[in-house]
Amino acid sequence: MSHVSVFAPASVANISCGFDVLGVCLDNVGDTIHVQETSKPGIEITKIIGQDLPLEAAKNVAGVAGLALLADYGRDKGFQIQIEKGIKPGSGIGSSSASAAGAVVGINHLLGNPYTREQLITFAMEGERVACGTAHADNVSPVLLGGFTLVRSANPLDVVTLNSPLELVVTIIHPEIEVKTADARAVLLDKLHLKQAIAQTANLGALVTGLFKEDYELIRRSLVDHIVEPVRSMLIPGFNELKIRANEAGALGTGISGSGPSVFALSKGMDIAQKVGLAMQKVYDEIRVPYDTHISPINSKGVKIL
Ligand code: HSE
Repeated sequence: MSHVSVFAPASVANISCGFDVLGVCLDNVGDTIHVQETSKPGIEITKIIGQDLPLEAAKNVAGVAGLALLADYGRDKGFQIQIEKGIKPGSGIGSSSASAAGAVVGINHLLGNPYTREQLITFAMEGERVACGTAHADNVSPVLLGGFTLVRSANPLDVVTLNSPLELVVTIIHPEIEVKTADARAVLLDKLHLKQAIAQTANLGALVTGLFKEDYELIRRSLVDHIVEPVRSMLIPGFNELKIRANEAGALGTGISGSGPSVFALSKGMDIAQKVGLAMQKVYDEIRVPYDTHISPINSKGVKIL
């Protein structure tokens, strides 16, 4: 029976002003998912390497996403999934999205690709629902489609692929603490002031325009979050200092990656992105917070069949 392995990359959701709306796919960090067709209908998670996560398919993000696909496909098919975790759960760079998206791409491939990448988003979102209680699409969309994406609506699903300026590079610093997305969503206020909504909308529109025009200065001016960052930044050690030093080192902007605790910075060019990484590391060295860092160009393809 047939087998496929896929590389499912990490991603940064929100990107400052686009809470639950914007996301971008990273290049060199991710999960590797092996999918094997079997004669036993359903999904079986046979092994998870690198993290302690549930093997029961109904409790595992990859299992849930795969089951959602099979329920829609409607014929008795069975797959075994093995997951090599390259992304730490609760790190803020789309750990659950990578596993869910990787699983559905692998299964779809073995079924002969009955679904487009856009259609697979709906199934991968079910993995997000089991991970954090909300089927948000801002991580799974860039992982499946590549580049920057904008979720105009999660239900009914309407996702737009944006332009990815070639010179943009993402720096990530991950303080070694875990913040569960469900907890980071629970701290958010559910009411906004009109002024906040206006400022956020203006920045989101300008950021999307900056991406299309490859106008790095407009991108710089637009990477501002008036709504979520002021609340969530309290969960992240040294956040304000990280942001100040990264921007001083040349970043176009710095913010919380997804629901944190990772912090991302966007820079024009690899040299600046590396300087930004060093500046952020220095902050954590000074306050003795253990961390790991990733520096990544934008991945325009998303999940890759190996
Ligand atoms: N948009 C989601 C949030 C992303 O910020 O809660 C979670 O990775």
